[in-house]
Amino acid sequence: MISQFVYGHPVETYAVVEDVPVLGHEQLRHFTRKKGSPQAFSCPLREEDIVYGLGETMRGINKRGYRYISFNYDDPIHRDDMPSMYGAHNFLVVDGAEPFGAFFDTPAKVVFDVDSKGDGVLTVFCESQDLRLYLVEGKTAYDTARQFLGIIGRSFLPPLWAFGYGQSRWGYKTERDVSRVADKHREAGIPLDYICMDIDYMDRYIDFTVNERRFPDLAGYAARMKERGLRLVPIVDAGIKIEPGNPVYDEGVQKGYFCLNHEGTCYRAEVWPGMTHFPDFLREEVRQWFGDQYKFYTDRGLEGFWNDMNEPAIFSSEYRTQGTEPDLDHGDPDQPERHTADFKDFFHRLDDGREKSNYEVHNLFGGMMTRASGQGLDRLLDKRYLLFSRSSYIGAHRFGGIWTGDNASTWEMLRQNVYHMPSLNMCGFLYSGADTGGFGGNATRELLLRWLAFSAFTPLMRNHTCIHTRHQECYRFRNPEDFKTIVSLRYRLLPYLYSEFMKAALRQDMFIRPLAFDFPEDRKARDIEDQLMVGESVMIAPIVEQGAKGRIVYLPEPMTEVRYSREGFSCTEADAGERTVMVPLNQAVFYIRRGKLIPVGGAASCTAELDLSDVELLGSGDACEQYIDDGFTKDCSLDRCVVHRKKAEA
Ligand code: NOJ
Repeated sequence: MISQFVYGHPVETYAVVEDVPVLGHEQLRHFTRKKGSPQAFSCPLREEDIVYGLGETMRGINKRGYRYISFNYDDPIHRDDMPSMYGAHNFLVVDGAEPFGAFFDTPAKVVFDVDSKGDGVLTVFCESQDLRLYLVEGKTAYDTARQFLGIIGRSFLPPLWAFGYGQSRWGYKTERDVSRVADKHREAGIPLDYICMDIDYMDRYIDFTVNERRFPDLAGYAARMKERGLRLVPIVDAGIKIEPGNPVYDEGVQKGYFCLNHEGTCYRAEVWPGMTHFPDFLREEVRQWFGDQYKFYTDRGLEGFWNDMNEPAIFSSEYRTQGTEPDLDHGDPDQPERHTADFKDFFHRLDDGREKSNYEVHNLFGGMMTRASGQGLDRLLDKRYLLFSRSSYIGAHRFGGIWTGDNASTWEMLRQNVYHMPSLNMCGFLYSGADTGGFGGNATRELLLRWLAFSAFTPLMRNHTCIHTRHQECYRFRNPEDFKTIVSLRYRLLPYLYSEFMKAALRQDMFIRPLAFDFPEDRKARDIEDQLMVGESVMIAPIVEQGAKGRIVYLPEPMTEVRYSREGFSCTEADAGERTVMVPLNQAVFYIRRGKLIPVGGAASCTAELDLSDVELLGSGDACEQYIDDGFTKDCSLDRCVVHRKKAEA
């Protein structure tokens, strides 16, 4: 059951797409509301209650014990105690005596104090007086999350190739750099589907341009790469460089499409291209215009994009002349002041006629950029596109995925990637992933192999790293054969992973879940944070510790243990309970639930070589349902599922 409570005069966020009955304030359950600035919603928690959700926030799957801030922010130094990241995903689930979920639909700052003082109180402080609060009451935590997914609309559906492996690095500058990455992967037999182009492909970091010295014939190059089963995925930043003569800039100024400053002229902020203006993505007409600009790329045969710097990130502004130093003050949960000053300096003109400072509607900016580009790409292409963004708000999940930004090459960040996945799924962001291997710092061979073995199960599987860090492409490390094995696992699993992703998305369900969602009666499963369910039938237990030769895995029921090595899959039946599993760096182990079957395919160097219908079945079940399509069609439906039955043993 879902109900809605409206306070003040909320801004349209487009997060919820279904009609939800509005109840009177006196009917609010679970929370007590304290008026004031901020207004506060509190509820008691019992010792054993678990609080799930909050999407892209740090810490564990159970959010208890800390404070989190929804205020989208570019902090390139990731730590597990940072209060906010790039996304505002204001949905949480309290798994208590009566499970319920709450979505605080407001684009302004929200602070979630999830029992940080240990006194058993959850308090949500909403800075704005204008908001919609959705209350979801479910039978279980999982049921509650599913009901929420039901009202926010279906997840973005990427093409099959977006489930392949992607290689990226800030620092590939030229066609030669990109070709070298392609060649080296192919030579080493490491599968690859796409290569990301970071800001250096552009002419002086200007969106919707290409540096013609570096990429003399982007269209021809993209076509040649595609013949090799490889796609190019360019970055697009939020700010438009101030440069009269550039048609995008000129049109934006002339039509009043940019955010305004206090004086009513276009606000100026410095980002990669120098001084820029920010498109006013909160307006429909501006989104339409911005989305149409992607024609520059689609005309050149490109079908995949990553949107960046859209919190928006600001190096310095016309009012502030600070350098690019990270804002360390942000570590204080209540005082991210230096940067909030910038967000108070520019203004959006909303479609409802109101004018709001960016500070008041801050968390919508990145999500609305995704909406703009997703809708634009949908108009421009007759097939599904790849899009992932750094900043986001719930609702943007219908148009693109997200990646979790500038993590680091540390074990802690690998662990964080594991925790993020189910929390993001609860908030609608099924197509997501982290920079595999870590963005900042230097990845070790061991870290990258373990990270790949985890990313093999996340929808977005992209190796990306920062300029000036150690090169992190698989072929750079000793014995690339081991990397080939782990990346190949992903491709062999694609018949299952792609099918389960599509089924979950089409059913508005989660693809990756905490163990407790599937085993709610199992006390032990409730407390396990480092094992996840992937699709209906698979459980994973990633290794996230340096030097570990294996780990202890908890099986809530007897399962099939599948070991993957260069020789292929080998299965053994495993009893319920705890077991110690040894996993060499060049192997991966995962589990198939009792009575389930999964389809796996043959090896491939890219998804174009895959035949999704040519599968072998693993597991102890009798039958399974596989979703199969051509990988591009927009016409996706569950009718495309086929049933496989295990042949009776002779
Ligand atoms: C910040 C992004 O998070 C990162 O992935 C990218 O490499 C840099 N911007 C440069 O574009």
